[in-house]
Amino acid sequence: MALFEAIHVHKRFGDHVVLEEINLSFEEHKLSGIMGPNGAGKTTCFNVITGRYKPDRGQVIFDGQDITGKPPRTIAQLGISRSFQVMNVFDEYTARDNLLLAVPGVRQKGLNIVHDLANDIEFNAKASDVLNRVGLAGKEDVLASDLSYGQRRALEIGIALAAEPRILFLDEPTAGLGAEATAELSAMINRLKQDVTIVIIEHDMSFLFGLADHINVIHWGQVVAQGSPDELKANKWVQSSNLGKLA
Ligand SMILES: Nc1ncnc2c1ncn2[C@@H]1O[C@H](COP(=O)(O)OP(=O)(O)OP(=O)(O)O)[C@@H](O)[C@H]1O
Ligand SMILES: [Mg+2]
Repeated sequence: MALFEAIHVHKRFGDHVVLEEINLSFEEHKLSGIMGPNGAGKTTCFNVITGRYKPDRGQVIFDGQDITGKPPRTIAQLGISRSFQVMNVFDEYTARDNLLLAVPGVRQKGLNIVHDLANDIEFNAKASDVLNRVGLAGKEDVLASDLSYGQRRALEIGIALAAEPRILFLDEPTAGLGAEATAELSAMINRLKQDVTIVIIEHDMSFLFGLADHINVIHWGQVVAQGSPDELKANKWVQSSNLGKLA
């Protein structure tokens, strides 16, 4: 059985149908990809899956449990984390404090609890471990604003990992990165995929084809093609679209 499934998901904003009929299935311990043209509904799909929006129809199933329409916090507590298409780190905080702010409840309580937890040995060990996993070993005390763009992107993934998710959703992690930073990110995600199930929305096809076990193409609010990278390269629809040329 798949770890995560979206079944017959339909989502509209007013008269604008964005997701007509989405069926997706993500296997545990695999890296799944989602591609598709601009405005196809990929981010909306993540927003429905992670509880930001309720679908108008359909079901979202995680580990056999129906999580459709549950609030984002409840979904996060079940072991589902995401990163955002727009960078979501606090520049004026250190890498460690950014991880701290990701601990449930800390953001609301504000700075005092940040300072208390900053002296917590267990938390510090965990923060170092997370930074190590995303390739930021030794950067605990560096301000996010002093990290390179690629390192901030890695920190953002660390923030999502700090909750120890069973499944991690990444929305266009290569956005704004140059070739070198993209290669570093690819190596980092390749290591991460050994111990967490990952789903990535991505425009960079060589990046996605190099990492994914299974890829879904979303277009016109539906999954129009899916399969292994090799199957997709051979898919007539993918070949005839711009997406095929990129791959
Ligand atoms: N909250 C919202 N209210 C109204 N329309 C929305 C909302 N969120 C998304 N949309 C619309 O849904 C459509 C799909 O947007 P979405 O961001 O999901 O696409 P995408 O596939 O992620 O595109 P991109 O590749 O550019 O990131 C767009 O037409 C967008 O304007
Ligand atoms: Mg998007």
